[in-house]
Amino acid sequence: MEREQLINSSISIIKLNQHPSGGYVASPLFPPYSYSWLRDGTFIANAMDRSMETESAELFYRWVHHVLKDKRPRVDALIRKQEAKEWIDRSEFFGTRYHLDGRDDLSEWGHFQLDGYGAWLWGLTEHIRITGHSELLNELRETIEITVDYLMTFWHFPNFDCWEEFPDYVHPATLACVYGGLKALGELENRAPLLEKAALIKKFIMDHAIYEGRFVKSIHCLGEVWQPALNGVDASLLWLAVPFGVCEVNDPIMLKTVQAIEADLKHGGIQRYVEDRYYGGGEWLLLTAWYGWYQAELGNREEAQRCLDWVMSKADKLGRLPEQVAESLRDPSSHPEWIAKWGEPALPLLWSQAMFLVLSDSLK
Ligand code: BGC
Repeated sequence: MEREQLINSSISIIKLNQHPSGGYVASPLFPPYSYSWLRDGTFIANAMDRSMETESAELFYRWVHHVLKDKRPRVDALIRKQEAKEWIDRSEFFGTRYHLDGRDDLSEWGHFQLDGYGAWLWGLTEHIRITGHSELLNELRETIEITVDYLMTFWHFPNFDCWEEFPDYVHPATLACVYGGLKALGELENRAPLLEKAALIKKFIMDHAIYEGRFVKSIHCLGEVWQPALNGVDASLLWLAVPFGVCEVNDPIMLKTVQAIEADLKHGGIQRYVEDRYYGGGEWLLLTAWYGWYQAELGNREEAQRCLDWVMSKADKLGRLPEQVAESLRDPSSHPEWIAKWGEPALPLLWSQAMFLVLSDSLK
């Protein structure tokens, strides 16, 4: 399929799978993904903003408001418990995905994930930058402040990573989302406390999440000392540079991180992390697009174009992009079991379509 055609089908697929009230279904044909995630949703909305489909993006941000606006008593109760040093169970925190009509998802799921909350604040400020619709800040104020209070208080709590795993650790990619959200809103509204917290989060990452000159996948606090928990890299560490800017794309620590991603996780496409067993650990389209986006920002257009071509080669006749492909599997032995349990991977995955749009836009 040609690039323009795939751009058009990606936009159509995203629009067709947006609920009238604004939530994007993660994947319409993979039942466990029939919800709207704040993380996937924000990156999808951002891709729509970059594709001049700003109405779709705005509908999503209004949907987030619809989902979160009544949660003030809950966030206040959580903050009170934290101040009183009371134990807070993971299940008491906000969810990571919601029903399309905005209801909480009460199923068994790793719900305590902070990245989507930081990401949506960042995405909203990007939307306002692109459209000039600053009146949204007033309209969504209640939800913005609930999110700010939540992140300012709990940013350093161990929570599930962006792959919904390892809840006992803190993840630099998650911190990058929180940093990005607080910094972007702090700058837009000239709010010193938010900017100070963002600076603190950046310092925290730089002080505790570097091993052998590069970032690590996860950290934890042992005997009051923060240290690496999982020493290897995860491709989501790219988020520290693009889009959240914890460091520059050519920062030596980032360059060394990317070298490790290339050595350990790059084949034709990019895998998540070395120990990945989900689906046998395939190559992820959205991460390959992310890596291409990073390369484009670095000025390496040729490699970015190669990534775009690779992603495009995975589209089916309808222009649908899967979550991942079974190439260079990290653990082929766990693949048949996964297929027996789940069937084929999610197709289309809206987040894959979105990251294709972002990479394509970054090459313009
Ligand atoms: C991924 C998450 C994603 C969710 C929905 C999970 O398998 O690990 O990052 O948010 O699918 O796409």
